Amino acid sequence: MEKKEDPNFSSAPKLELEELLQTLDQKINWDGRKLVKYNGFWFPMPFFPPIISTQKHFKAKDSDILLASVPKSGTTWLKALMFCIANRNIYTIDQNPLLTSNPHLLVPFLELGLYFHQENPDLQHLSDPRFFSSHIPFNILPNSIRDSECKIIFICRSPLDQFISSYHFLLDNKFEKDAVPLELDEAFDMFCEGIHSWGPFWDHILGYWNAHLKNPEKVLFLKYEDLKEDIAFHIKKIAEFMGYPFSEEELKQGVVDQIKKMCSLENLKNLEVNKCGYVQGIMKNSSFFRKGEVGDWTNYLTPAMAERVKKVMESKFGGYGLRFKI
Ligand code: A3P
Repeated sequence: MEKKEDPNFSSAPKLELEELLQTLDQKINWDGRKLVKYNGFWFPMPFFPPIISTQKHFKAKDSDILLASVPKSGTTWLKALMFCIANRNIYTIDQNPLLTSNPHLLVPFLELGLYFHQENPDLQHLSDPRFFSSHIPFNILPNSIRDSECKIIFICRSPLDQFISSYHFLLDNKFEKDAVPLELDEAFDMFCEGIHSWGPFWDHILGYWNAHLKNPEKVLFLKYEDLKEDIAFHIKKIAEFMGYPFSEEELKQGVVDQIKKMCSLENLKNLEVNKCGYVQGIMKNSSFFRKGEVGDWTNYLTPAMAERVKKVMESKFGGYGLRFKI
């Protein structure tokens, strides 16, 4: 898809939105884009109207599955895995749509995709079960997602690596053409204060963590580091949660291993379709596939910076029994 010069973000009723916006705090993000604070979270301005549209119009079905995530935490990987798991009996390996489509096309974003282009898109053509994805925090999700039987698979990541991944992603994409991005240490200060896209990271993560503790049948809580450590185990776990468990026969035939290979960073990154083009006309396909390493933060942050994040994590997550391998 060609890059659009001036994306027109949403057709949500402008006046209503403008009135709402006047009541909300705004700041400039690391990359020069405006952030707006809504219900305690900072959102990139272009995605604010689609978030409101999603809240207002999206109606979840009981059979839907939502992939919720903190950006740069493995969303793309999980989309590929979910798609492969659900469609493993439909496509042969060499006909898998992942070979010709970026995972973001196969599992569409709500606010960054469907509701980004239209205020109230017609979703009737989508067959059941429908899979969607979103970065919207749990307490701001459309009511129908929380109140229905719709399942949620959430993925997050050690904030240290998530910060480094986000910083690279924003620089790589240059969303604000003429803006001078902040230096890494300035961006880091904002991150630690919770002023960053879809942040504060702790509230985003805790919203889904608490929802998972309350109802683990509804919300599966995943960490990127755990998937990296044992992906085969997690493919089986995700498949079971989705309602697509593997049979003994499939396990013997090595189907899990085939999915693991198809969705590996090495495989996806080197596909022509992921080397060029854009997601939603604005985010480079290639920028979703970088290093995929646990602990990449050590190449960019000083021990003192890491200590600062660890303290934030301890104070925010400690009481909830949530830990990350860093
Ligand atoms: P890095 O920037 O640390 O390399 P998201 O999909 O949520 O935007 O997250 C992007 C991060 O996931 C990037 O991390 C990217 O390299 C990594 N990633 C993308 N595809 C992956 C895959 N198939 N396996 C493991 N990591 C992957």
